[in-house]
Amino acid sequence: MSCPSDPQDDPRPAPLGELDLDDVRVHRALRDATIRTLSHNIGYVRGWFFELLEQRYGREGFASVAKLDLDEDTLRAWFEDWVQRTIASDERFGRRWLAEMMETEAGRAAQALATRDKVAFGDWTRAFALGGRSEGGGHLPPPAQHVDGLGHADLPRGVETRAELLERVVADTAPLPDTAQREGYHGPRHFDFWMSGLEDYLAIESVLARHDAPLAAGARVLEMGCASGRVLRHFLFQRDDLEVWGCDINGGHVDWLGQHLPERTRIFQNTVLPSLPIPDASLDLVYAFSVFTHIDEFERSWIAELARVLAPGGFAYLTVHTEHTWSIVERAGALMSDLVRMRDQISDYDVGPELFAGPLPKDRTVFRWTSALSNNTSVFYSTRHIRRAWGTFLEIVEIIPEGAGYQDVVVLRKR
Ligand SMILES: C[S@@+](CC[C@H](N)C(=O)[O-])C[C@H]1O[C@@H](n2cnc3c(N)ncnc32)[C@H](O)[C@@H]1O
Repeated sequence: MSCPSDPQDDPRPAPLGELDLDDVRVHRALRDATIRTLSHNIGYVRGWFFELLEQRYGREGFASVAKLDLDEDTLRAWFEDWVQRTIASDERFGRRWLAEMMETEAGRAAQALATRDKVAFGDWTRAFALGGRSEGGGHLPPPAQHVDGLGHADLPRGVETRAELLERVVADTAPLPDTAQREGYHGPRHFDFWMSGLEDYLAIESVLARHDAPLAAGARVLEMGCASGRVLRHFLFQRDDLEVWGCDINGGHVDWLGQHLPERTRIFQNTVLPSLPIPDASLDLVYAFSVFTHIDEFERSWIAELARVLAPGGFAYLTVHTEHTWSIVERAGALMSDLVRMRDQISDYDVGPELFAGPLPKDRTVFRWTSALSNNTSVFYSTRHIRRAWGTFLEIVEIIPEGAGYQDVVVLRKR
């Protein structure tokens, strides 16, 4: 077994013959490195995809497929499907191909990754996440120390009295992350930060109750992209009978949570690739706030991965930008100011009022910029796309316009 522990030392994997393809770790490493390599060169994917078809179906079959005018989005979707099926089926053909790709592409991949100086090179898998450490700092006293805003704060939906709100505040005994650890949420307004997480937590509770699916004692919950726990903390402190998991691609957040949330919290760092270290059918709820609004590559594979880890009857609660968000973008202050700020770096669209006065240009409309390592895209999905693409993996229960601030909420259920 020869998976280099540090690709900077030896970017090339062992020759194909030396790899034990039945080893799950090798399989995963190959898969991860390959997907990443391909994902940043869609033109390359196109070439490869045709080669694959030719190899698989012979020239005739290939010719008939090649006649189709495949645009980038279709190719991307096909590619995702194929990767997902390969992963799911553990198909030998796919695995052999992944290994071959890895051999020829590893050098190029390592080079590309080496230029991203913030990437943590721990092993092949970690290379696809963000590094960074939170050195014990970056925290403030628990929320009860910030209640000066409480007297005039509006009561969140689901909280009847100010006394009840105070009880909920006092129940939460963990430090708050300081402003720098909060992904820009609520600047110096620490109590507002805490309240916004409570509101999102209560909104999930109420949607689950509406669908006769309240979380039972012992239920397992995962937040994908939990950052420093704005919402996650409420699943820990507003109830004490849940098994709470959180993950993020950002190592700094994962560190912070490990240091400041109760030990019973299960936190791990995941990668941008759709693969979670969680067994099949084991979760009752997966939720993600403002994560799919940034996921461009492998969005459908991520939905498939969430479908895999959900137990039958389990729910997913995911916030998105849709055509509705597009229509209200002028009043979605934070979203608009992000896009306007990045305007010069966004090449595909001319960001401005004229653009937003028209309809959503594509079923997947993606704004990309390059100056940040994460959150460097803003993605809008049409509800048609969501119903069609996500609906193949999970039942779409409802799409709630402005269910989370200016973002819509997609509620899905594992059949
Ligand atoms: C805008 S922030 C939202 C943070 C948090 N969900 C909240 O609402 O407070 C997006 C977060 O998602 C994380 N993220 C982005 N892509 C991810 C992925 N594929 N898997 C897990 N986390 C991801 C980022 O590192 C960041 O912490």
